[in-house]
Amino acid sequence: MTPRFVDFPDLSPEQRAEAVRVLREAFADRPGTFEDEADAEVESFLEDEDRAAFAAVEGGRVVGWIGRVATYDHAWELHPLAVDPAFQRRGIGAALTRELEARAKAAGVLTLYLGTDDEYGGTNLFGAALYPDVAGKIAGVRATARGHPFAFYRRLGYEIVGLIPDANGPGKPDILMAKRL
Ligand SMILES: CC(C)(COP(=O)(O)OP(=O)(O)OC[C@H]1O[C@@H](n2cnc3c(N)ncnc32)[C@H](O)[C@@H]1OP(=O)(O)O)[C@@H](O)C(=O)NCCC(=O)NCCS
Repeated sequence: MTPRFVDFPDLSPEQRAEAVRVLREAFADRPGTFEDEADAEVESFLEDEDRAAFAAVEGGRVVGWIGRVATYDHAWELHPLAVDPAFQRRGIGAALTRELEARAKAAGVLTLYLGTDDEYGGTNLFGAALYPDVAGKIAGVRATARGHPFAFYRRLGYEIVGLIPDANGPGKPDILMAKRL
């Protein structure tokens, strides 16, 4: 089934609750991420004028959603992206990302960027010494056997543009990625 895209303001109250559940469950293996804040996160995309989000809906059910934050005149942050674990690896994350890219481009945005943390050992950056020459480490970034979403974004044409060492604690960096639209 191909998902329909539904803007957050058009979701029913039940679907909004599903969006909260999807966010919590998609990040459940990363303790601390959206655990207690999933409700507030979904709410922020309905209230903050710099934020907008839409969901992928299949058979009336929210199976994933994506948000953006208008941080610059010509660059938006992609944040967050979550696909229901039961519906992953079926093209939904890619479809949401491509739709956001099309909407951003239509709004005159030139760059979409994101941060994808490695706080659990999904890449060879975890626990590694990144200073000095942080930028020099970018070329050697690899996913470990645990896997990491940076590889998903790379398939979609995003490249690593920076690393924030220790962003989530010692040895737990954030990986910054961007794509020209
Ligand atoms: C990352 C995530 C959004 C991907 O969504 P998805 O619907 O499972 O991905 P898709 O099925 O659209 O995958 C598109 C392509 O990326 C690949 N891919 C998906 N997840 C991947 C991963 N973790 N590592 C490597 N490749 C991956 C798929 O195999 C597919 O490749 P193909 O086009 O060659 O077939 C989803 O796994 C998720 O919600 N994860 C938990 C939350 C999260 O990490 N969000 C991003 C944080 S920044």
